Amino acid sequence: MLGRINHVALAVPDLSAAESAYRDTLGARVSARQLLPEHGVTVVFVELPNSKVELLEPLGENSPIAAFLEKNPAGGMHHICYEVEDILTARDQLKQSGARVLGDGDPKIGAHGKLVLFLHPKDFFGTLIELEQV
Ligand code: CO
Repeated sequence: MLGRINHVALAVPDLSAAESAYRDTLGARVSARQLLPEHGVTVVFVELPNSKVELLEPLGENSPIAAFLEKNPAGGMHHICYEVEDILTARDQLKQSGARVLGDGDPKIGAHGKLVLFLHPKDFFGTLIELEQV
């Protein structure tokens, strides 16, 4: 079911500081900011030769990463995103196996304009999983 790692996402309390650390200290290429109010985050991508790192900062009142940052005030790894070829087939197989899909279970348009959905971290060893159709 799983293809490549599309990205690893870090929740950060201060996106400007994180952008500067990745761009200036680590010497990585950092994308322009994207504001995604429907997901409650502002995001940039650190572009690496083999993958990407997504830096997420809360946007708006009910950001889904606000609670995570309360528990992890310095920031931390928030989710890992795997590519799948057919997200609806993957979702149906996962539900059959008893895995919990977050939200209403329907894929949403993610930061790359592709369909994504999230799997409950308690079903996968404490790590939130994002699936992205490529
Ligand atoms: Co993501």
